[in-house]
Amino acid sequence: MLKELERARNLVRSSGRVVILTGAGVSADSGVPTFRSSEGLWKQFRPEELATPDAFARDPETVWEWYAWRRRLVLECSPNEGHRAIARLLLSRDGVTLITQNVDGLHGRALRELQSEGVGRDPDGTVREPGATLELHGNLLRSRCSVCSESDEDGPEPGGGGNDTPLPRCPSCDALMRPAVVWFGESLDPGVLDRAMHAAQDADICISAGTSAVVHPAAGIPLLTRESGGSLIEVNPEVTPLSPFADIHLRGAGAEILPRILEPPD
Ligand code: APR
Repeated sequence: MLKELERARNLVRSSGRVVILTGAGVSADSGVPTFRSSEGLWKQFRPEELATPDAFARDPETVWEWYAWRRRLVLECSPNEGHRAIARLLLSRDGVTLITQNVDGLHGRALRELQSEGVGRDPDGTVREPGATLELHGNLLRSRCSVCSESDEDGPEPGGGGNDTPLPRCPSCDALMRPAVVWFGESLDPGVLDRAMHAAQDADICISAGTSAVVHPAAGIPLLTRESGGSLIEVNPEVTPLSPFADIHLRGAGAEILPRILEPPD
């Protein structure tokens, strides 16, 4: 494994354009349950019951109750060393794009943590613009109107769950607000997906970390890098449908492996 780690670290350092695709496994080290492992989130609920537009139309209270629980859960968690290693790379060099399937907001929190620690600030005090973070499936810490285009960055603490807090409503059209996430049966934001696909096509290397690579179109993104002549590194304790295409498969936890391969140039 040490040899593979060294190879991966050198590949990252020698690559001009790096794309990192993350899934729930990167947040598992922060205590956020994944979706498809034995105790995964979906095992307790059927997606059709909660994460679809029909479920929201049928029973918005229950859907908001589940998302309120998920928000409280992720807000109790902290970014782990894998999130911080990715954030450090976004802040320390050019040509890095993060594409995440995660809706827990932990990547953004890691970025803000490091910025507050002064990472990405040049000696003359100028603050570097971090590489892009593309949230393919949205962010459950944000809300948006279920009808118009109004969105709420911090999303009011939703009602539901039996307490008498009313469900959040749109300040513009008074329709129900909903979690700003992509539900089953919904399409991804075409602009975000387009940027993600182009970044992958242009990348010299794609690192796929913590994803089972079974949900498309996200799962196909690393292959775009391969198809355009780039390299693929997979960070996952398990084998996935991507593994046969990986130039390097680092079998282990993201929090342990990502800091060892993403350390920015001195
Ligand atoms: N470090 C790295 N990978 C890990 C770790 C860890 N500590 N723990 C588990 N994994 C791996 C698992 O082996 C698995 O391959 O993370 C992956 C998690 O897979 P899923 O639970 O399927 O999560 P994800 O791939 O993000 O799901 C994709 O499916 O339900 C939708 O919208 C949801 O974004 C989600 C999408």
